[in-house]
Amino acid sequence: MVEVAEDPKRYVRVKSGVPGFDELVSGGFNRGTVNTITGGSGTGKTVFATQFIYQGVLAGEKGMIITPSESAGSLKKEIFSSFNWDLWKLEEEKKLVIVDVTDPILRLQKSIDLDPVDFLINFRKLVDRKIGEEKPKRVFIDDLMAFFHAVEAPFKMRSIADDLFNSLRAAGVTSVITIGTAFGMNQILEYGADSCTIISREKIGNNLVRSIYIMKMRGSRIANTIRVLDISDQGLAVTSLSPYP
Ligand SMILES: Nc1ncnc2c1ncn2[C@@H]1O[C@H](COP(=O)(O)OP(=O)(O)O)[C@@H](O)[C@H]1O
Ligand SMILES: [Mg+2]
Repeated sequence: MVEVAEDPKRYVRVKSGVPGFDELVSGGFNRGTVNTITGGSGTGKTVFATQFIYQGVLAGEKGMIITPSESAGSLKKEIFSSFNWDLWKLEEEKKLVIVDVTDPILRLQKSIDLDPVDFLINFRKLVDRKIGEEKPKRVFIDDLMAFFHAVEAPFKMRSIADDLFNSLRAAGVTSVITIGTAFGMNQILEYGADSCTIISREKIGNNLVRSIYIMKMRGSRIANTIRVLDISDQGLAVTSLSPYP
């Protein structure tokens, strides 16, 4: 295959690994950007982002998963039980690094005695250091809201998020960050991100239908449409259907 020279003035696209998604965003995520996936509990955020990492590894891009809320062990078990994706194996092969922030050693910092702002500053430094050491191409931070809800002042939350997002961009990694909606503060984080995708569950008749749309993507044309999202044993896929007639 002939390599086409990269235009330094334009973003290069990174394939999401989720069938049907890249078509909605003109080819994939922009390389080196911060991309959020927002949704309620059980909508498929963790599956989406894990698939982004897993498919990236299969395409030869080293991945890093940072888990602030759920332990690395439970995540690996869930994903293997659901889709047969063996994250242990990818770790052994050094194609994937999982940073377990729920680890007892790191959890010491999560003690209530520590100011949440200090904690988040430490968290950003930890992320920075791990990316510097491991040099992944793709990074996934699961449920960032698990940390941020403890910060009382929205302006502080905004500036800490900006610092974190800027250091991810400076490292040149393409990141996917999931955001839960339980605390109603997701917009503060979404403002600072380069792209925002919203997933939810619609009640249509007696059925629950998963749906997805792109709220924004800087530097990209996006499809202004809601699509049905499907989860099966093969993982997650965006279908060509819309949930509403
Ligand atoms: N093989 C599968 N087929 C269909 N649905 C699945 C399969 N594996 C997991 N799921 C569903 O996917 C959802 C996982 O969502 P998850 O990404 O963990 O949500 P959250 O948005 O809370 O991170 C669960 O509700 C689960 O029932
Ligand atoms: Mg989750």
